[in-house]
Amino acid sequence: MNLLAIETSCDETAAAVIAETGDIARPWRIRSNIVASQAAIHREWGGVVPELASRQHVRDICGVYEAALDQASVGIGDIGAVAVTQGPGLVGSLLVGVAFGKALAWSRSLPIVPVHHLAGHIESLTLAHGELPLPAAVLVVSGGHTSLYFIDHPGRYRLIGRTRDDAAGEAYDKVAKLLGLGYPGGPAIDRVARNGNDRACDFPTARLTHADRNAPRPTADGILPADIARRIDFSFSGLKTAVLRLVRERTGTNPDVRALKAAASDEAGSMLPASDVADIAASFQRTVVDALLDRTFEAARWLEARSIGIAGGVSANSRLRAEAEARGAALGIPVFIPPLALSTDNAAMIGAAGLRKLRSSGAGALDFNAEAGLRLE
Ligand code: KG4
Ligand code: ZN
Repeated sequence: MNLLAIETSCDETAAAVIAETGDIARPWRIRSNIVASQAAIHREWGGVVPELASRQHVRDICGVYEAALDQASVGIGDIGAVAVTQGPGLVGSLLVGVAFGKALAWSRSLPIVPVHHLAGHIESLTLAHGELPLPAAVLVVSGGHTSLYFIDHPGRYRLIGRTRDDAAGEAYDKVAKLLGLGYPGGPAIDRVARNGNDRACDFPTARLTHADRNAPRPTADGILPADIARRIDFSFSGLKTAVLRLVRERTGTNPDVRALKAAASDEAGSMLPASDVADIAASFQRTVVDALLDRTFEAARWLEARSIGIAGGVSANSRLRAEAEARGAALGIPVFIPPLALSTDNAAMIGAAGLRKLRSSGAGALDFNAEAGLRLE
């Protein structure tokens, strides 16, 4: 069967056709994967403007859908089911995909599967590499999320760690803005960091040893001992402030706290020499990558995981990819990372998660709605 998938949770309008292969070890094949990026529109504003994003999704969705059918060389009559991202994300953006998906499913009498965006990122791993050896520890690291999942059964995602404040991708985007590197920040820092000394600046790494009093809810109980579970959480806002302080010191501005807050949108970094920007970017990147991998590998060791997965936009990062593979090789644990086209937002991964869900729990009714804060476990 062919499934048509739609993804519009943030600033990418995407559609894909995914086919079932009949092979249990490698269950899905990509027939087409179309992404219309809005990056050029939001770059002008230094970040995603939700209202502009929704309007652009409306403009692009029909063309992207048609291109996905064309690239797959199929017609709508060859499609057996529809999957669409239900959340989390920007509600106005999500609504465009959800309304389009529902209208398509209703008009063609097709089953429709609402998909969690992070389930999509996780299933990008199986889509690219086949079923992971389980149990697996999977890190989803994107612009909106930094979450670690334990997977002991295909399609069952148990949250064991998450960021207490900013997502790693968000930290990349904010630090890039501060350094005058523009939007989106992740790829820009990745590029500039290659020319920098990653030991030039000594940024702090947050160590979380206390319980989180502001936690929205606990992560899965009983999978990890309580003290280990706490250590597995992430925090990136202190690191971001440390970079801000350093930039203001070097550019000769008094780094008092009020000024720091006000300067969050400054591009003070553009006043720094290129070699300083490269050193700061490289040191920041080293700190982020170490924080991500230390916790992921520690959790994997405790859980006796047979594999590690890393997915989401930040998994496109060259240092993260290289270090994850080196650590995995040294410890004898296989590390799976999607190819670049499946790291950042796309609809193929939503199709994979949609087929997984369709086969395990069936289609949804047509009365589901977009949910900006949808949770996964
Ligand atoms: O998964 P994604 O496309 O969207 C969300 O679900 O959030 O992730 C986007 C994030 C952005 O914060 C972007 O800066 C980051 O992924 N990113 C990177 C790289 N490429 C994209 N971060 C670090 N290095 C990269 N090469
Ligand atoms: Zn994403």
